[in-house]
Amino acid sequence: MDVTITLLPGDGIGPEVVAQARKVLEAVAGQFGHTFNFHRALIGGIAIEETGNPLPDETLKACQTSDAVLMGAVGGPRWSDPRAAVRPEQGLLRIRKELGLFANLRPVKLIPALANASPLKPTVVSGTDMVIVRELTGGLYFGQPQGREQAGGRRAAVDTLRYAEDEIERLMRVAFDLARGRRRKLTSVDKANVMASSRLWREVAHEVAHDYPDVEYQDILVDACAMYLIRNPADFDVIATENMFGDILSDEASMLTGSLGMLPSASLGSGRPGLFEPIHGSAPDIAGQGVANPLATILSAAMLLRSGLGLTREAAAVERAVEKVLEDGHRTADLAAPGQPTVGTQAIGDLVVAACATATEQHQV
Ligand code: IPM
Ligand code: MG
Repeated sequence: MDVTITLLPGDGIGPEVVAQARKVLEAVAGQFGHTFNFHRALIGGIAIEETGNPLPDETLKACQTSDAVLMGAVGGPRWSDPRAAVRPEQGLLRIRKELGLFANLRPVKLIPALANASPLKPTVVSGTDMVIVRELTGGLYFGQPQGREQAGGRRAAVDTLRYAEDEIERLMRVAFDLARGRRRKLTSVDKANVMASSRLWREVAHEVAHDYPDVEYQDILVDACAMYLIRNPADFDVIATENMFGDILSDEASMLTGSLGMLPSASLGSGRPGLFEPIHGSAPDIAGQGVANPLATILSAAMLLRSGLGLTREAAAVERAVEKVLEDGHRTADLAAPGQPTVGTQAIGDLVVAACATATEQHQV
């Protein structure tokens, strides 16, 4: 396979973690006989700095004409003035919208070797294996009106949570189809006891559920979901929810796996290219120190191989390699127990590359 992959390193630790994922992708390409052509483009704060625009036209074009996009992270204190008109995050939101990436898949799977790395008891997190399907191009992130207004001489601001039925339906279909390939359980999360948008969400979700009688379906309220995620995480299979709820619940759920630094994601639309990114942010406090955990980005590269390019064996080799490195006891700082030795960003990337080679050999035997 000969494909073009656009890399959007972005800000903070973004460039460091994307460099490791690229290294892993190059290793996989070599082992399986593919040609991956990489292009780097600007997004976020660095793009504002160099072009004044968090998503330059050139970047958008590069993404639109590539087979898949791998992103690092955007944002940082340099651009966090709440009164700034141009912000790094606008670049990310716009690319999601422009590429039509309405479904964001966030797998939350405990790697057994990390059961002790979670702040929760191993007995609680054991067996955790769910996918949060977050709606990504609607809701509060995009609803209009949005912005500041003057109300009776006071400062006021407004955001709008609006969903149309087709936006809910297509997201629910992605989630139901996914559940069919897994344990056939779907939980739809809303706040239907308070919000009109959630009552429409629930109504449409029930209509779609009729087409999937083989999938066990339940609704739960978002506040209860936040609690059940900590109490019985292993009960969840697929969770479908709107944009903002999914943003919040996925950060919460990441701690079940030991660290926010472990969670990958895939943002998919109806065609190519998909966008693959870790769910964590740019972590400006540790940027440039070579200590960031690149595994979420490496696992995002595995999702890119599987869902973006249809390369199942290659994706499995990367995932297996990550598990192997953790089973062998290597830990980045975010995963280490107090006093446990740690490895840096590059070193763990090298270990994954080496483990990939072994996984591939085993596969070919
Ligand atoms: C995420 C991030 C983004 C979001 C930010 C950086 C805009 O938190 O991907 O979860 O809120 O979607
Ligand atoms: Mg988030």
